[in-house]
Amino acid sequence: MAAAEGVSGRCAPWLRPRGAAGICVPGRERPRTAVPPGSSAALGPAVRPSRAGGARVIEPTARRPATGGTGGEAVTDDRGTQPIPGAPGSAPPSVEEPVQPREPLPPKPDQTGPETVSPTGQPTGADPARNAQSGAYLTTAQGARLYDTDHSLKAGPRGPVLLQDHHLREKITHFDHERIPERVVHARGAAAHGVFRGYGTAAKVSKAAFLAKDVETPVFVRFSTVLGSRGSADTVRDTRGFATKFYTEEGVFDLVGNNMPVFFIQDAIKFPDIIHAGKPHPDREIPQAQSAHDTFWDFVTLHTEATHHTLWNMSDRGIPRSYRMMEGFGVHTFRLVDAEGGTTLVKFHWKPKLGVHSQVWEEAQITGGVDPDFHRRDLADAIEAGAFPQWELGIQTFPDNPEQTFRGIDLLDPTKIVPEEIAPVQPIGLMTLNANPSNFFAETEQVAFHLGNMVPGIDVTNDPLLQGRLFSYVDTQLTRLGGPNFPQLPINRTHAPVNDMLRDGMHQTAVHRGVAPYRPNSLDGGCPFHAGADTRAFIEVPAEVEGRKVREAPESFDDHFSQPRLFWLSMSPVEREHIIGAYTFELGKCYEQAVKERGLKVLARIDGELCRKVAAGLGLPVPEPDGPLADPEPSPALSQVGSVWPVDGRIIGIVAGRDADLDGVRAVRTAVLEAGMVPLVIAPAGGVLDADGEPVTVQRTFATARSVEFDAVLLAGAPGSGADVAGARGTRGGGEPGADPRVLVLLDEAYRHGKAIGSWAGGEPVLAAAGVPGDAPGVVNGGTATGVLEEITRLLGEHRVWDRFPAAS
Ligand code: HEM
Repeated sequence: MAAAEGVSGRCAPWLRPRGAAGICVPGRERPRTAVPPGSSAALGPAVRPSRAGGARVIEPTARRPATGGTGGEAVTDDRGTQPIPGAPGSAPPSVEEPVQPREPLPPKPDQTGPETVSPTGQPTGADPARNAQSGAYLTTAQGARLYDTDHSLKAGPRGPVLLQDHHLREKITHFDHERIPERVVHARGAAAHGVFRGYGTAAKVSKAAFLAKDVETPVFVRFSTVLGSRGSADTVRDTRGFATKFYTEEGVFDLVGNNMPVFFIQDAIKFPDIIHAGKPHPDREIPQAQSAHDTFWDFVTLHTEATHHTLWNMSDRGIPRSYRMMEGFGVHTFRLVDAEGGTTLVKFHWKPKLGVHSQVWEEAQITGGVDPDFHRRDLADAIEAGAFPQWELGIQTFPDNPEQTFRGIDLLDPTKIVPEEIAPVQPIGLMTLNANPSNFFAETEQVAFHLGNMVPGIDVTNDPLLQGRLFSYVDTQLTRLGGPNFPQLPINRTHAPVNDMLRDGMHQTAVHRGVAPYRPNSLDGGCPFHAGADTRAFIEVPAEVEGRKVREAPESFDDHFSQPRLFWLSMSPVEREHIIGAYTFELGKCYEQAVKERGLKVLARIDGELCRKVAAGLGLPVPEPDGPLADPEPSPALSQVGSVWPVDGRIIGIVAGRDADLDGVRAVRTAVLEAGMVPLVIAPAGGVLDADGEPVTVQRTFATARSVEFDAVLLAGAPGSGADVAGARGTRGGGEPGADPRVLVLLDEAYRHGKAIGSWAGGEPVLAAAGVPGDAPGVVNGGTATGVLEEITRLLGEHRVWDRFPAAS
């Protein structure tokens, strides 16, 4: 099947389509005069639901409303002259507290909400803002205007508070109940709205309407970590959830996958076991969002079907650079049904247009401290900047034979992959995430995914992990979302007509009519009626089922080591080095010697070199494998290294002092924006550089910048020290003349983490002071500023300077 074209016709006027994917990136023609300079409105497109097809269309951003202290008159936007994502509101605030009543501000141009359909799936055509607050005045929940919300009603200014104070009680009571239970797993996440367009290439295997050619379907995607609590750091080593809700005309379809194609367990009945083992220890409730502790390793080393997934977690896939740079997998084998009732087994894959990229471990750890919201921010900023992330949905197809195997691989075993080399991934559609949610709780927190949300043309298989999941999601959501009517929450509402005979319950928002919510009936004219295959009913595939009632797994599920070895053999030397480092760290953090020794016994079954090097790090003897090693064919598609990828949305840090080559900085900023990347100027202090000429706005100072935020670092000369240098980095606060210690740390980290580094106009001595060799791979010195950037951009296409890692030499 051929990949279909991108969405190049849909870019906002000041964005231009880039690459085969047609991704929208900032272009030369950004209308700087049409929007307040520096306002985030200058960055992104407004995304509004189209009335016609239900799909989102991208419209030019309107001028940011001029708002301020007195309501209505313009105020100075002191955010600077360069558009950088991240402004908290849709209009620049005034210094003085506003006093003139006015309607609420609109959401930021990059934000939208769930499309406005009724609780029973009827399009209302209303703007998503209809669900937001309205009116200029503070009111009670009943809409009565209030004159004071700062003082309780008291018997005199120094007297006791009166029970009569209904406003106090309402305000405090509602606040007391603001929290809902977090998800038992995948509690930490971030989400975005978008659109999926079918290529039509799946038509011969599935009759699902949303997969037909050029059908556009709104989607909402939530990415997550698995183990951590809602407030945990984004960059921990963990699997990432990748859950997509397709609001199709035939009902909601949820593809609830991960960024890894295999799972720890083969049967859902063990899910509580793996999660209890991975979560913090129940006595001290530590460690948070980590697998590097005894209970996790105790379980996965005793329960060796977890070996394959554990190895993926220990690989670079466990520490993604960005949600935008992750693959997604449906994990299980699903069954597609065509228009004639023919069936095909498939595995779903999401392929990111930006490629699959990761952090390095030290970088991930530092990020967890300096920016725990790293992935969340990255996703929102990229969308706000117009660098819309895209994924192609693809399928591997297998004949639906009675054995449900393909080339000897059991398709019902979720600890196994089918290498792409023997079953290529065939593209069937393109997903573009083009709008941020406007309210985290209402959308990202309240969204409820469920594998049982299927549409005609997509069905399940007997994978025992999948079967258990079909039960678990709705069950947990009943508690998490407080009753049976959570499908009516705006973000969960289907866009297909609902006539379900389900009635009442907590938080019922539909106002049902009629008297006969039962079947058969005559009092409501017999409605609702059964649909048939000709009227697009979801009809389960009538598969044969027979067998003894047993608590057993098939024999093929006993193979726990051949595919981990396949994965290991498919890695490049640098990736293997990272895996060895990860196992050494994680087992090294375990307290119990027995757990470490058992871990090594498992590694001996994967590979001798892996086991030997981890044993050396742990200071333990190398065990012999207690079984033969498999001899699988490697799958090069599993490696992340060795290709060149688009650089859209990459962050370039430009270090510049007052005496820097500011013409060069300006030229580089422009070139970075034109390449679809984001330039951040880092200076000794905030404000602007060169206030007398064309000002260069500072986005980060030496105090607020850290290397982990940047994909590459440029040095526009020798920047000198910040005024706040004393004490800024402990006892080294004084620094050396011309080199602030924080800049040296930034350069040192960027170098050690394999990032491209460039300098011109006299930056070389600073690099030398940071211990960065001028002739090292990926270090570009001298020439013009834009010449340096050109080379840096080329290096960024490979994500990191791999030659700098020891394994590469
Ligand atoms: C292939 C294996 C699995 C994958 C890919 C997977 C994926 C996911 C994802 C992506 C989420 C987050 C959804 C969101 O963003 O709201 C999630 C949540 C959850 N998963 Fe799984 N999961 C798997 C296995 C299981 C199993 C076996 C169970 C239970 C038997 C389970 C139970 C849950 C529960 C209870 C939640 C929380 C749902 C909520 O509160 O809304 N998962 N899973």
